[in-house]
Amino acid sequence: MAMSLPLIFLQLVLAWLLGAAAMAASQALPGCENRCGNINIPYPFGTREGCYIDNQFLVACNASNNPPKLFLMQSNIEVTDIFVWGALRILSPIGYDCYNAQGGPGDNFIPWMSLNRFPISNTQNKFTAVGCNTYAIVNGVQGRSFTTGCLSFCDSINNVINGSCSGIGCCQTSIPKEVRSFNMTMQSYDNHANVWDFNPCSYAFVAEEAAYNFSSLDLANLQNREKLPVMLDWAVGNETCDEARKNQKSYACKENSECYNFDNGPGYRCNCSEGYEGNPYLSNGCQDIDECMISRPCSMICLNLPGTYNCSCPKGFEGDGRKHGSGCRRIPSKRHPSVNIAIGVCSGIGSLLLIIVAWWLHKVLKKRQELKRKEFFFKRNGGLLFEQQLSSSVEKTKLFKETELDKATDHYNEDRILGRGGQGTVYKGMLSDGRIVAIKKSKVIDEGVEQFINEVVILSQINHRNVVKLLGCCLETDVPQLVYEFISNGTLSQHIHDPNEEFLLSWEMRLEIAIEVAEALSHLHCATSVPIYHRDIKSTNILLDDKFKAKVSDFGTSRSVAVDQTHFTTQVKGTLGYLDPEFFQSSQFTEKSDVYSFGVVLVELLTGQKAISSTSSHESKSLATRFIRSIEDDRLFEILDPKIIKVGRKEEMVAVAQLAQRCLNLKGKKRPFMREVAVVLERIRMSRENSTTQQNYEVVNTTQLMTARRGMLLL
Ligand SMILES: *[C@@H]1O[C@H](CO)[C@@H](O)[C@H](O)[C@H]1NC(C)=O
Ligand SMILES: *[C@@H]1O[C@H](CO)[C@@H](O)[C@H](O)[C@H]1NC(C)=O
Ligand SMILES: *[C@@H]1O[C@H](CO)[C@@H](O)[C@H](O)[C@H]1NC(C)=O
Ligand SMILES: *[C@@H]1O[C@H](CO)[C@@H](O)[C@H](O)[C@H]1NC(C)=O
Ligand SMILES: *[C@@H]1O[C@H](CO)[C@@H](O)[C@H](O)[C@H]1NC(C)=O
Ligand SMILES: *[C@@H]1O[C@H](CO)[C@@H](O)[C@H](O)[C@H]1NC(C)=O
Ligand SMILES: *[C@@H]1O[C@H](CO)[C@@H](O)[C@H](O)[C@H]1NC(C)=O
Repeated sequence: MAMSLPLIFLQLVLAWLLGAAAMAASQALPGCENRCGNINIPYPFGTREGCYIDNQFLVACNASNNPPKLFLMQSNIEVTDIFVWGALRILSPIGYDCYNAQGGPGDNFIPWMSLNRFPISNTQNKFTAVGCNTYAIVNGVQGRSFTTGCLSFCDSINNVINGSCSGIGCCQTSIPKEVRSFNMTMQSYDNHANVWDFNPCSYAFVAEEAAYNFSSLDLANLQNREKLPVMLDWAVGNETCDEARKNQKSYACKENSECYNFDNGPGYRCNCSEGYEGNPYLSNGCQDIDECMISRPCSMICLNLPGTYNCSCPKGFEGDGRKHGSGCRRIPSKRHPSVNIAIGVCSGIGSLLLIIVAWWLHKVLKKRQELKRKEFFFKRNGGLLFEQQLSSSVEKTKLFKETELDKATDHYNEDRILGRGGQGTVYKGMLSDGRIVAIKKSKVIDEGVEQFINEVVILSQINHRNVVKLLGCCLETDVPQLVYEFISNGTLSQHIHDPNEEFLLSWEMRLEIAIEVAEALSHLHCATSVPIYHRDIKSTNILLDDKFKAKVSDFGTSRSVAVDQTHFTTQVKGTLGYLDPEFFQSSQFTEKSDVYSFGVVLVELLTGQKAISSTSSHESKSLATRFIRSIEDDRLFEILDPKIIKVGRKEEMVAVAQLAQRCLNLKGKKRPFMREVAVVLERIRMSRENSTTQQNYEVVNTTQLMTARRGMLLL
């Protein structure tokens, strides 16, 4: 049950990672400037030849202003926004016509504008006049010619209504379609004679309706505003979509886009098709939207497809997977639950075999009757998620037959036993194809099954050269079995502690093993989509292959956790001597608890002593405690393994010892992350390889060295 959440998280995290990469594509042609300060420059606009579609779309960025300003080259109009859906926002001046107190002419400014290619948006702009006893006229030239205007009266500033341009102090009228240039005039009936003290000028402008809100204060000094934004429409070509499509070479709408005839003049616009977003005028500009990430439309499984998505239900569920539909419902089980376990746990095998397994399990389980029923319901649930998990992993986990494993282990011959652990017995076996494998047989079914499923789920997620590989599993037996690659050279513990072991692990090999284990753990903590904590790192769980490469094994107690979860509370399990003291007290297992256990392994490599001493002559049974004490008392070289101290490099040992000291810090927060541990170890090895420019790892000042090294990591 505990792992169901992390597995769902796994899918979400993967989808999130993939989704994030597709965002933030440039809207300009490759190699062209796509920004001017904060302003986007999407194609078909461009700042130099080859970057725009035709010279009307040429814009110039003047970077000597702060922030930089963008101009339309053909008309020298300032642009503040370009929208790829076919609009641009420009700044347009405000016209004014002022009088002096005697009714004589004062300042005036009559703006006009010629926009060549780009018509004023008839839906988003208004022609506005502000003033008492004012009439203003706007003339459209080019395109269809038109004249329109409005009148505004008022005799007191108290009569006007803030926010309303209905003819009292302010009037407004709409702009027709296809206006590409205009000029305007404004007049007063009485030269502002009666209202001069609060309204000496008439004002008029074309501006975005949303950008201007009339206030009675504007009657006095609107000209202080100088410029207001105007929305222009743009389109490409001068023909309709149908005509444009005939000439594919010049047709501007690229893959996954639609064409629309322009409704404000000749030409057409492009729009990314539904389910896509981006710049439709660029090839590959319209990118698939990952609906699964953006709106989370499904209740359980979401599959992003080009232009759309599909909601489905996991095996064992049925219904409409959409969130706003009825959702997924569990299919009421008609079969015996044991069949579902079989389906769940191992997929990808022929249905014939499945029926055999089911029949077999059915028989076994019938004996166990009601007592076990509850447990199997739980296992069925685990199995469902399990199947989902396995079907998504690249290498399918194989289902082995009972007879196959029986033969491989010579009827589980006592001579074939490689070891006995807390969860079961490990046998050496040879498959019919000649492969040598290790077969782990769980001890008891009650607790074993949960850990067994746990281990298969976790191992099938991991593909790392320093993590032992799971080849498959077998369900046909009354106790589940796991089949691993066989690692020929025994455990690290044997090599360090067995007095009969003739082959001496040199210091170089020990450092190499430490690096490999650190990398495997760092991979588990960081590189897997959901962090995995091993929870039982010790030298007997580190196997060595024929080339003495380390392989981390035994994931029976490992747990994957949701990404935003930093710890979980659990019953204290683990091996004495490696157990994080903080975890022991708080029952909260964090990634730093693995770091502690790894620190103990480092100390084992350095000292050649067991994590818990069996002889009581020592001051403390715990190796970690004795080690820390000897460092603090500056007696490090007394505790180091005499077998390596003669030939190995002392400065490396000191550096590793200091790292181990940090890993063994009683405060989990102060321990380094596994990633940092791996990097530091790698650096220690590198320093040997570049021994010409050898770094000095003297113990002169420990804190100084630590700070220096932390500094390097930050770089
Ligand atoms: C850029 O703007 C500055 C300051 O407004 C002006 O002096 C300069 O002439 C402009 N440059 C160009 C190329 O327009
Ligand atoms: C315009 O101003 C009026 C009065 O000051 C205010 O009530 C209204 O919300 C404003 N409208 C906008 C769109 O800002
Ligand atoms: C404004 O446009 C009209 C119509 O084209 C023209 O008759 C008039 O002279 C123009 N006025 C100015 C001030 O340019
Ligand atoms: C309009 O709003 C301004 C402040 O935004 C206020 O000073 C003025 O009195 C208001 N005028 C009216 C007529 O409500
Ligand atoms: C459309 O544009 C092309 C080239 O830009 C030009 O050759 C053609 O005459 C134009 N057609 C019309 C009807 O304006
Ligand atoms: C362009 O596509 C978007 C998203 O598919 C849609 O919301 C918008 O209405 C479309 N525009 C036009 C003019 O059809
Ligand atoms: C989408 O889901 C439906 C029903 O869930 C299925 O029939 C269809 O084949 C799915 N489409 C794809 C492309 O997976």
